[in-house]
Amino acid sequence: MSRKKIVAGNWKMNKNIFEGKQLVNDILESGLELRDDLEVVIAPPFTSLELAASQLKDSKNIYLAAQNCHQEASGAYTGEVSAEMLKGIGVSYVIIGHSERRQYFGETDAILAQKVDAVLKQSMKVIFCCGEPLEIREAGTQNAYIQTQIENGLFHLDEAAFKNIVIAYEPIWAIGTGLTASDEQAQEMHAHIRSLVAAKYGETVADNTSILYGGSCKPSNAAGLFACPDVDGGLIGGASLVAADFAGIIKAR
Ligand code: PGA
Repeated sequence: MSRKKIVAGNWKMNKNIFEGKQLVNDILESGLELRDDLEVVIAPPFTSLELAASQLKDSKNIYLAAQNCHQEASGAYTGEVSAEMLKGIGVSYVIIGHSERRQYFGETDAILAQKVDAVLKQSMKVIFCCGEPLEIREAGTQNAYIQTQIENGLFHLDEAAFKNIVIAYEPIWAIGTGLTASDEQAQEMHAHIRSLVAAKYGETVADNTSILYGGSCKPSNAAGLFACPDVDGGLIGGASLVAADFAGIIKAR
């Protein structure tokens, strides 16, 4: 098994250029001991990406992610940013399919599949988010719900392309709510996701796919979540905005 452990910070629409510069500095100075089997990923807003790239250029095992991109390569799409533009400033990952993008910006499975292709075409990696709303969890149909999201968003890829996919399981009821999935709930869903990947691409690809947990992950609960055999790290929202908390989560991995 050679899958990477990854802790990624999704800043969402937070931190102006000055605050972002300070946060990256604080993270770099927080005494992180980065191991070779652990990647740290930082996803600031578009406006901070270029500066963050220059701040991180000498750091090993810390990578930059964008939070979104457009599915088309270029053209009359006012306000949008293409994968090629992101690649050009040193971005390594793009988060695709975050529940906030699906919910507030109407991003459908079909659009997300196109965005996945756009990112891979630029030789970047995708952090593909999936996650069920509370009513689906309460109805007990979360496994089928996640299966549909993953099949529709990712399973058009061939095996070689799929190797550039990281999956983040983020139950919507746990995002920004302070409610975390229990270690058991996370492990159960991550094992389910890995079994879907195994059925489609085989055991080796499934073993090598990093599956991250997201949703109110913080220093106090990270160690328990990360100890689950199928949880390979986290996609961290709120706690990634405070260097000490983000560093604490990284240390738990
Ligand atoms: P949260 O967000 O850690 O603030 O719950 C996670 C995410 O949405 O990626």
